[in-house]
Amino acid sequence: MDSGREGASGDGVADAKSEPGSPAAGLKRALILLGPPGAGKGTQAREVAKVYGVPHLSTGDMFREHVAQGTELGRRAKPIMESGQLVPDEIVLGMVQERVARPDCAAGCVFDGFPRTLAQAERLEAILGGIPGLAGRSLAVNLAVDAEEVVRRIASRRTCRKCGAIYNTGGRMPRVPGVCDVCGGEVIQRPDDREEVVRQRLAAYEQQTRPLVDYYRKHGRLIELDGSRDISTVQRDLFAALERAG
Ligand code: AP5
Ligand code: MG
Repeated sequence: MDSGREGASGDGVADAKSEPGSPAAGLKRALILLGPPGAGKGTQAREVAKVYGVPHLSTGDMFREHVAQGTELGRRAKPIMESGQLVPDEIVLGMVQERVARPDCAAGCVFDGFPRTLAQAERLEAILGGIPGLAGRSLAVNLAVDAEEVVRRIASRRTCRKCGAIYNTGGRMPRVPGVCDVCGGEVIQRPDDREEVVRQRLAAYEQQTRPLVDYYRKHGRLIELDGSRDISTVQRDLFAALERAG
């Protein structure tokens, strides 16, 4: 699994027009979803990837899949993730570099939870530089949400163990309790969603990831959105901003 969601959805979020920036014209960007844990990166990334028909690359989902499959990489990542720390850059970068080199990323992709350190951001630019069509085409979207709200959202999140689909006890839940609507997998609470781990994840975000907001702003590659509003309002503004960015 790479959290790839393919094909235009036609579910009415953004009408297909072949103007630059519209879904029909393709994404042609490495879109980067930034924001603290629980900001809604996965929720919005899935929708953009679906509508534009490009892969959704969630490094968190990739690590969770490695953990589930018991690979060597998964064995190294598991204790780090469960403590709320970041997995070392060289592990993340090796995994991303291999994935983004595949042909399905040539027309664009949506990164969710990557990059998370300045070293990862700089290396991503170098990797994209080697991909015709994506060189110099990164664009970051910062979903700003305060800590109190993200703690509330994470406490009520449920996730499919198999495909990573996201649910919320206060909103959309599976039609059959505990069974994913998308793939039939088991819907669970993520092991790193315990309160003390969430606090550590927030600290890691503040120290290591928040500086990326300034990094992308300085490079003129940042869209800033108020992520504290409801899912469909954030989604509408995100699609509008993508169309404007072209
Ligand atoms: P990862 O899986 O990326 O976790 P995260 O960044 O902590 O983010 P979350 O997945 O918790 O939140 P989200 O922003 O995706 O929110 P969601 O859409 O689910 O990483 C996990 C771990 O892997 C890391 O801690 C680290 O150890 C490791 N890792 C991963 N990538 C790494 C990297 N690049 N470098 C190093 N280590 C890495 O939404 C949350 C909930 O809120 C859901 O229930 C949803 O329904 C709800 N919701 C969403 N939007 C709204 C809204 N607008 N209003 C109300 N509710 C909403
Ligand atoms: Mg996520």
